[in-house]
Amino acid sequence: MDINKNIAIITGGTSGLGFEIARCLRNSGINICVVGRDIAKLDSAASKLSAIDQRAKVLKFQCDVGNEEKVQDLFKFIGESKLKLNMIFNSAGVGRFSDPDKINRIMIDTVFDANLIALILMSSYGLKAMGHDGGKIINIMSTAALVGRPKEAVYCAAKWGARGFTEAIKEATKGGPVKVIAVYPGGMNTPFWSPDCGLSPDVSKFMKPFDVAKRIVDIALEDSSSAVTDITINRR
Ligand SMILES: NC(=O)c1ccc[n+]([C@@H]2O[C@H](COP(=O)([O-])OP(=O)(O)OC[C@H]3O[C@@H](n4cnc5c(N)ncnc54)[C@H](OP(=O)(O)O)[C@@H]3O)[C@@H](O)[C@H]2O)c1
Repeated sequence: MDINKNIAIITGGTSGLGFEIARCLRNSGINICVVGRDIAKLDSAASKLSAIDQRAKVLKFQCDVGNEEKVQDLFKFIGESKLKLNMIFNSAGVGRFSDPDKINRIMIDTVFDANLIALILMSSYGLKAMGHDGGKIINIMSTAALVGRPKEAVYCAAKWGARGFTEAIKEATKGGPVKVIAVYPGGMNTPFWSPDCGLSPDVSKFMKPFDVAKRIVDIALEDSSSAVTDITINRR
C-alpha cells in the first residue's frame, strides 16, 4: 500500500482524542485532513500537526459535520485533493449532561447533531467515496453507548444510536472492501469536560487521550487477514 497517495479524515481533529489520533497518523507519515467548526482551533491544530513531519500533507476543513451540505463540501474538497480517501475517524462529539427532568430541545439538538447525525452522515458519504477501493471507517463512541447513566440520558441516547447505526453498517459491509470499527472509550482528560457541559468529574484520574489514540490508530493501521471490529478502552 502506498500510504502517500491516501488520506485520512479526522472529524474533531482539532482537540482531545481526535487531535491525538491526527498526531499518531502524522507520526506514521499519513496524509490527513482535520475537521472542526472553530477556525482558530483548526488553524492552531493544523499548524502543530504540520510541524511534526514534512513527508505528508495536513489539510484542514472548517465544517459542522452535523450539516449535510457542509459534509458534501468536505467530500468535494477531499475529491479535489487528488488523494484517495481510505480512512475516516469520526471523533467529533459534544457532551451536555443533566438530570433527566432538566432536558431541553437545545441540549438534544447539540448532542444529537455532533454525536449521532454527524457520525451517520460522515459514514454514509464515506462509504460512497471509498466505494470498491475500500477503506476503514472508525466510529468513536463511548462506554456511554454500552450502559445507561443517570445524568447522561441524552448523551447515552445519541451514543446508543451511533452504536446501532455502526452495528448496522458493519453488517452491510461484511466481507466487502470497507471495514467498520466501533470504538468505546471510557473517560479521557480532554476539553470535552468544559465548564458548561453540566458535569465536573475529576478528570486528572481519566485516561490520557494520546494513550487511547495510539491504541485506536495501531488497530486501524493493521493490515491483517483477521479484523478487529470493536474496541473498548478503559483505564487500567
Ligand atoms: N473525553 C471523554 O471523557 C470521552 C469519553 C468517551 C468518549 N468520548 C468521545 O470521544 C470523542 C472525542 O471527544 P474529546 O474528549 O476529544 O472531546 P473534545 O476535546 O471536546 O473534542 C471534540 C472535537 O469535536 C469537534 N466538534 C464538535 N462538534 C462538532 C461538529 N458538529 N462538527 C465538527 N466538529 C465538531 C470539536 O471542535 P469544534 O468545537 O471546533 O467543532 C473538537 O475538535 C467524542 O465523540 C466524545 O463523545 C469522550
